[in-house]
Amino acid sequence: MERYQLTIRLPMVMVMVMPMGAAIVYKLYRALTYGVSPLVYLHLRWRKIRGREHPLRWPERLGRPSVSRPPGPLIWFHAVSLGEGMAAIPVIKHCRRLRPDLHILMTTTTYSAFEVIKNRLPSGVIYQFCPLDIPVAVDAFLGYWKPSAIIIIEGELWPNLIMGASKHGIALGLLNARVSTKSFKQWSGPLFRPLISLLLSKFSLIAPLSTLQAIRFQLLEASPFTINFSGDLKYVHEYDESEGDIGSIEDLKASLAHRQVWMASSIHRGEEKVMLAVHKVLMQKNPNLVTIIVPRHPQHGKEIAQKLQKEGEVVALRSRHEKLMPRTNVYVVDTLGELRQLYKLTPIAVIGGSFLPGLAGHNISEAAAAGCAVLTGDCPHIGYYSNMVSAMQRLNPKSVLQVSGKSELEEALSQLFSDARVLEAQQMAAKQAFCALSSGIVANVWNLLNFHVFRRALC
Ligand SMILES: *[C@@H]1O[C@H](CO)[C@@H](O)[C@H](O)[C@H]1NC(C)=O
Ligand SMILES: *[C@@H]1O[C@H](CO)[C@@H](O)[C@H](O)[C@H]1NC(C)=O
Repeated sequence: MERYQLTIRLPMVMVMVMPMGAAIVYKLYRALTYGVSPLVYLHLRWRKIRGREHPLRWPERLGRPSVSRPPGPLIWFHAVSLGEGMAAIPVIKHCRRLRPDLHILMTTTTYSAFEVIKNRLPSGVIYQFCPLDIPVAVDAFLGYWKPSAIIIIEGELWPNLIMGASKHGIALGLLNARVSTKSFKQWSGPLFRPLISLLLSKFSLIAPLSTLQAIRFQLLEASPFTINFSGDLKYVHEYDESEGDIGSIEDLKASLAHRQVWMASSIHRGEEKVMLAVHKVLMQKNPNLVTIIVPRHPQHGKEIAQKLQKEGEVVALRSRHEKLMPRTNVYVVDTLGELRQLYKLTPIAVIGGSFLPGLAGHNISEAAAAGCAVLTGDCPHIGYYSNMVSAMQRLNPKSVLQVSGKSELEEALSQLFSDARVLEAQQMAAKQAFCALSSGIVANVWNLLNFHVFRRALC
């Protein structure tokens, strides 16, 4: 992993003036949040009535614990919602394995995240809702749990929490750190700028997602000594116990067993044309072919199926429970939540959102983890996921094959169908690169936590 040491510094005079301004802004914030506490309380009750807060555990948001704190050092991981919460889990598991002596407290903010994450945490991890950023809630929370360190994933920076932690000598770390362009503009304004600099100065680790993000944090005056890189935790794939389990798609296994199968997943409107044109060419040489199409939006499935039927293809639509017969050549999967399992039944996955302009690629990790040969569209179209694609290609160029359009896709697929060794090599490459990427990121994060945060907090 590359490491960048950035040296953007502000003139000494500004640095000396800044903390005063910041202290005043923070005092105002604290007074304000103190003043509105009764309103926040009412708002919380209102949210509870509307089902936005947990019916029984909502007082946790006021810093009132619902379980007792075991004695000994405790690390607090915080994530706002589901995505960040899921990204925290591999790190928590790693921590549990390597430091069984530490207690772990996990918090999230949203009720929806709670519902999913409560079942995914390893046993022994304490789970609470995050306190609201009003002084009474934060003080109660910190006073009760007395964490040695707080690790925030991607999240929002709450002044009372961060200043409170700093006052109690609690170390702070920020993982998957990022500031959106919009927040960056807001924070750079005259009122927030001193405050955000003050808050960032309390962190002993900021692990940004990219060099651009690192620069933003430095412009907001995070110390260059706290900035260090680990890779994006959202790329980490979690292997669960049910890894070999194909659950609801068991019925397909037998019908696909003796067929030549490829799957085009996360297909956006318009991309199906590319896939179907390729299908038609491939059919000429491989009459035994099954093309599985998984539209990005399930409601698009019926339309695709209808059109194909008109063109004389033998199509089956999953939502109508149509069987995949020996004559069926296109299977359209327009159901939700079956993609992950489907990857286990197909040797080849073409990931959509990447063949037309204006799209932003899709997550290739599930396909790679399932051991598919992975193909995707070319650079300008894979947007957000281009980091993941290039990280995997650096580990093994065969792990993700990028094709620029219809004819390259067709050529690549023909080769995979005609040469079992090429197919196998690509499948292996994808799986290995992905495992290396996942475990490498968690190990990196762990090293950063030890180096920047725990060394100080747990001595
Ligand atoms: C990709 O998918 C995996 C597996 O579902 C998930 O853990 C990860 O968070 C996703 N990554 C991104 C960048 O969305
Ligand atoms: C980044 O963290 C690693 C430990 O993973 C450490 O060896 C290195 O010195 C750190 N770099 C900076 C700039 O702090």
